[in-house]
Amino acid sequence: MQGIILGIESTAHTFSFGIVGTDGKLSPSKSSLFRPEEGGIHPREAADHHSDSTARLLDSVGKTEGFEWGDVIAIAFSQGPGLGPCLRVGASVARTLSSTLEVPLVGVNHCVAHIEVGRNQTGCEDPVLLYVSGGNTQVIARADGRYRVLGETLDIGIGNMLDKFARIHGIPFPGGPEIERLASNIKPSKEISLDEVSLPYGVHGMDLAFSGMLTSAIQKVSEGVPLDRMCWSLQEHSFSACVEVAERAMAHTGKNELLLGGGVACNDRIREMATIMCEERGATCHWPEKQYCIDNGTMIAELGRRMLECGIYTELMDSAINPALRTDNTAVVWD
Ligand code: ATP
Ligand code: FE2
Repeated sequence: MQGIILGIESTAHTFSFGIVGTDGKLSPSKSSLFRPEEGGIHPREAADHHSDSTARLLDSVGKTEGFEWGDVIAIAFSQGPGLGPCLRVGASVARTLSSTLEVPLVGVNHCVAHIEVGRNQTGCEDPVLLYVSGGNTQVIARADGRYRVLGETLDIGIGNMLDKFARIHGIPFPGGPEIERLASNIKPSKEISLDEVSLPYGVHGMDLAFSGMLTSAIQKVSEGVPLDRMCWSLQEHSFSACVEVAERAMAHTGKNELLLGGGVACNDRIREMATIMCEERGATCHWPEKQYCIDNGTMIAELGRRMLECGIYTELMDSAINPALRTDNTAVVWD
């Protein structure tokens, strides 16, 4: 059937609607980002933000050039993982649109959506995915009909680590882009002693850990190391750890494509490190446009499209959210 799939993303701080054609053509999402006035993200406050943004975002989707509500053939929504109150808002809007428009619902796995939008945009076929976002840090590869998690963070996600370091130093959420900007002031030189900036390095076999390097980085700034130097060092340590595990995953699986995804994949330094690693082993490195690295409704629509093509959709009775859904819970039956 020809038409468009509307995707709804609401797992955490971002409420977003995006569309994809049945031919796989992606369109930019209409999004609203919840920015707490102080502290971290409170799930209830983020959910209120999502509810309050619904009418405005839907209006904006409706005004997109060439968009007709009558062309929508399915509503895809993030069923998990994520913050319960936020997921519930997205699921409720999805159910309402599905019954109003009389089109099927497709509940999708947010983590798998990050992978599929990357495959759509870059054309890579069977990559190892380095999924680096706020809440998740995983190295993933497809095997036996699932995206298998080969390695992951044992404590906090890399993005949450960067955001927390930023917040403690007065930089508002999301902190990653400002850390990248500050780090870019630093040119490694003899003036920076390794003792001054070295941090604990958290690779444990195929797994990662970031809380030790976070604590140590905060401590060093409090002892007088300039903030921009520590931003640089935090990036070098945390990105190296991720790229090391990604390389090991490529060696073990024999795959020769690396795909970056998740908000931290917007960072030029992690892209550069990953590219160097891939070049050194004769592999290729890919990432989607920034607008599709961060959370967005279009990626949810894209995974919904792949699932619908295989005849998979979600009955109303089965549309409950699952905050603890894992990447490998979802059977992958599409190419
Ligand atoms: P998930 O639910 O998949 O964990 P998420 O809710 O964290 O996703 P994303 O939009 O995928 O949302 O990622 C947001 C994270 O990306 C934030 O932690 C933010 O600081 C980080 N980020 C965004 N841009 C950059 C950048 N240029 N450098 C480093 N980190 C970045
Ligand atoms: Fe995400």
